[in-house]
Amino acid sequence: MTDKTALFDQCRKPTGRMGRFTLWRMNWSHSRLTDWGLAKISIEPHGTILDVGCGGGRTVSKLAAIATQGQVCGIDYSDESVAVSQKTNAPWIDVGRVEIRQGSVSQLPFPDDVFDLVTAVETHYFWPDLAADTREVFRVLKPGGALILIAEAYKGAKTAAAKLAEKYFPVAGMTLLSVNEHRELFTTAGYSDVRVVEEPGKGWICSIGKKHPKDSASDTLRKESNPSSARGS
Ligand SMILES: C[S@@+](CC[C@H](N)C(=O)[O-])C[C@H]1O[C@@H](n2cnc3c(N)ncnc32)[C@H](O)[C@@H]1O
Repeated sequence: MTDKTALFDQCRKPTGRMGRFTLWRMNWSHSRLTDWGLAKISIEPHGTILDVGCGGGRTVSKLAAIATQGQVCGIDYSDESVAVSQKTNAPWIDVGRVEIRQGSVSQLPFPDDVFDLVTAVETHYFWPDLAADTREVFRVLKPGGALILIAEAYKGAKTAAAKLAEKYFPVAGMTLLSVNEHRELFTTAGYSDVRVVEEPGKGWICSIGKKHPKDSASDTLRKESNPSSARGS
């Protein structure tokens, strides 16, 4: 079990040589899952996109290739992830289409209402305050923008991997949500048009929610301080 939690530690915050190996491995092992999730949304060619917990940076590369005239930013709080992601995306960075920054999901270094799309692949398990962090992503989304959270395990999936995750994630301080909890996370954070899609045979899940076109971050703050002033009232 110590071995398993040590492996989780490298996924939580890759460091050193082991971290570089883990990032290289995840770039390959998460690729099909990522393609499956990204196929569930439409990505505009001119989109401004953020990948949170970008790890080794392969999702950032995929997004830059899909949003042919867009801008993609990857963010991660690990030095190693930032370095590997920058290396993976060097050609895109050179032409000014990609930027990789260091930072935490809990305090994203961006103003309100800037991204058309935020992606998060295999990272939410580690977020320190999932509810608040999902709201922080909401803050940086443009009204009309969307968050997609993609994961290869969820609570209640029938696969062997999901059963192992149910057993070991809590020990490692990681969060594993059920389908309903995914939906609740998004709706509670203020997202609309929430969709949760499963691939039961593989135990994969993706949750998608939009920031309503009428929701700007300042509007959200207004609602929080004075609920009676909520949209439409
Ligand atoms: C399991 S890896 C997934 C990496 C990549 N998204 C992929 O699919 O291969 C999780 C990544 O999330 C990052 N991460 C975890 N918690 C984070 C946080 N609070 N803020 C920013 N990044 C975080 C880790 O440093 C790591 O690079």
